[in-house]
Amino acid sequence: EKEPVKVLVTGAAGMLNLIFHLVFLGQIGYAIVPMIARGLMLGPDQPMILHLLDIEQAGEALDGVSMELIDSAFPLLKGVVHTTDVVEACKDVNIAIMVGGIPRKEGMERNTMLSKNVSIYKAQASALEQHAAADCKVLVVANPANTNALILKEFAPSIPVQNITCLTRLDHNRALSQIAEKIPNNVHVSDVKNVIIWGNHSSTQYPDLNHATATTISGVKPVRELVDSHWSKTEFITTVQQRGAAIIKARKASSALSAASAACDHIRDWVLGTPKGTWVSMGVYSDGSYGIPSGLMYSFPVTCEKGIWSIVQGLKIDEFSRAKMDATAKELIEEKAVAHSCLD
Ligand code: NAI
Repeated sequence: EKEPVKVLVTGAAGMLNLIFHLVFLGQIGYAIVPMIARGLMLGPDQPMILHLLDIEQAGEALDGVSMELIDSAFPLLKGVVHTTDVVEACKDVNIAIMVGGIPRKEGMERNTMLSKNVSIYKAQASALEQHAAADCKVLVVANPANTNALILKEFAPSIPVQNITCLTRLDHNRALSQIAEKIPNNVHVSDVKNVIIWGNHSSTQYPDLNHATATTISGVKPVRELVDSHWSKTEFITTVQQRGAAIIKARKASSALSAASAACDHIRDWVLGTPKGTWVSMGVYSDGSYGIPSGLMYSFPVTCEKGIWSIVQGLKIDEFSRAKMDATAKELIEEKAVAHSCLD
């Protein structure tokens, strides 16, 4: 049997959220731990030990989550460490899923949310750097995801930059499913591939279907030939950009099961590899590819092999795409400046 992998999940309790006087317990953290323990993230033959971290006030809820994990008798789950001590939580972890943070509440300025979260990520960067396994792979889910990941990178200089990423896979999956719904004659979401989310996990992200393909009854076709071009430049983009807000409106809480599922997809593909001929979107540290300034955490199309991601090169970028890719980069530059000013 393989050695267990240690997986940290922060924000694992899911705070008591008082929205419209209803109490919601457990959001992404609560949704993701059973997915991981069932083997959806690392494969059906990879045992794991879960490390769950949350803040003091959520300590009792965390006890409860841990009890439920034990009660589930998951064959792959070899242990649970639940703690409110960041050092204990980070000890020797191989994978860190960073969900913990302060979500933006109604009436909260985006910059207030940003400053609260960057200070959390600065502190947790040091804990990971000092205590995680040397090969630890980090996925930042908590918003502002790209900028939190950038701060984590800056304050954990000894963690290889290859090992720090942020989640845009939910947006990627949303783009695939919008296309599947749009193509006539029931193309299934698994028949669509190679969409791209460029940039920030925010409403400036650019969902791009110019390189996507779909397997139809008459063979593999470019998606551009299957949907009308007006839709792909307007409603497709805005629907994907605003899907998170639509979920909040409908559910009175933000996306949790789809975010948890996307985080599993992200790590699984990163660790086990992307299928041949398929790429996925990941927020990674820009190396200047496609003229995106280096020094930003930006979502690119990537392929993964043996635990290493590489940005897909050589895709043709038209003028429409160029403008949208630059606009989301501009927002990330501004977020970076705000984040640095909060930490000064
Ligand atoms: P939530 O509020 O239910 O859970 C956040 C948890 O983090 C709470 O349990 C809270 O106690 C904990 N926490 C706060 N400070 C912490 C700290 N310093 N250390 C450890 N834990 C801490 O929120 P939810 O819905 O689970 O969302 C989590 C984050 O994910 C939010 O920032 C949200 O905006 C983001 N998100 C990102 C998505 C993406 O695609 N990148 C999609 C959906 C949500």
